[in-house]
Amino acid sequence: MMHHEGFGYRFERAIVRRPGRCVVDGLRAEDRGSPDHASYLEEHAVYVRALEQAGLDVVTLPALDDYPDSVFVEDTALVLPEGVIALNPGAPTRRGEALVMEADCRRLGLETHWLSGRGTLDGGDVLVTGREILIGLSTRSNPEGFIALDELLTAFGYTVRAVRTPPGVLHFKSDCSLLGPDTVLATRRLAETDCFTAYRVIEVPRGEEAAANCIRVNSVVFMPEGFPLTLDAVESAGFEVKVLSACQAALLDGGLSCQSLRF
Ligand code: GLY
Repeated sequence: MMHHEGFGYRFERAIVRRPGRCVVDGLRAEDRGSPDHASYLEEHAVYVRALEQAGLDVVTLPALDDYPDSVFVEDTALVLPEGVIALNPGAPTRRGEALVMEADCRRLGLETHWLSGRGTLDGGDVLVTGREILIGLSTRSNPEGFIALDELLTAFGYTVRAVRTPPGVLHFKSDCSLLGPDTVLATRRLAETDCFTAYRVIEVPRGEEAAANCIRVNSVVFMPEGFPLTLDAVESAGFEVKVLSACQAALLDGGLSCQSLRF
């Protein structure tokens, strides 16, 4: 299926969810302290403003008191021109988030579809590019989830490819971002799996792996603060960059892409 130029990084709208007080209980692989709710609200408000400044109409959904990780809306759904696909997040504490998101999307007038079966799939494992949709198998996204999503996406006419999220990495997109039609930013450990041989890869310098979770939003690349070598690499490749703090999200293994659905 042919899509418009800029598919995967040109957007008009975004959906975000305000972090609730329970964000302090969010999942994390390693405890480096809990986020501070007030600081997270501030970090989130700056993120929303940046999306608006990049030209997006942003809908901010209310916080969910029962779901500590619900600020990471990207894991609950995949939004394409064909509609919203409500996913099935792999962490048991996050399963109900997709139900709430599906209802919210219907209220916003969006057409919705459900992943069939009982397989699990997190949106953080899905990278949409202009030529294909890559789905990273991970501890959150299992082969059954892949098969169900592949079936839906193939019916919509997309080319789908299963790839591998490196061991110890939460999501496929924790380690990569689409910067242009043929360009990705990726960690070495991910690039070494050869999933990007058909793309130009800008490699994240060693020690700055957390910088791989960026988002290109129209003409700007949002990058997390604190990664000077990666910033230099992306700017040197000719991209306009906006640096944003993602410190609070990072305490829960989250990053810039996880906090919005862009379409
Ligand atoms: N804390 C984000 C997640 O584990 O899904």
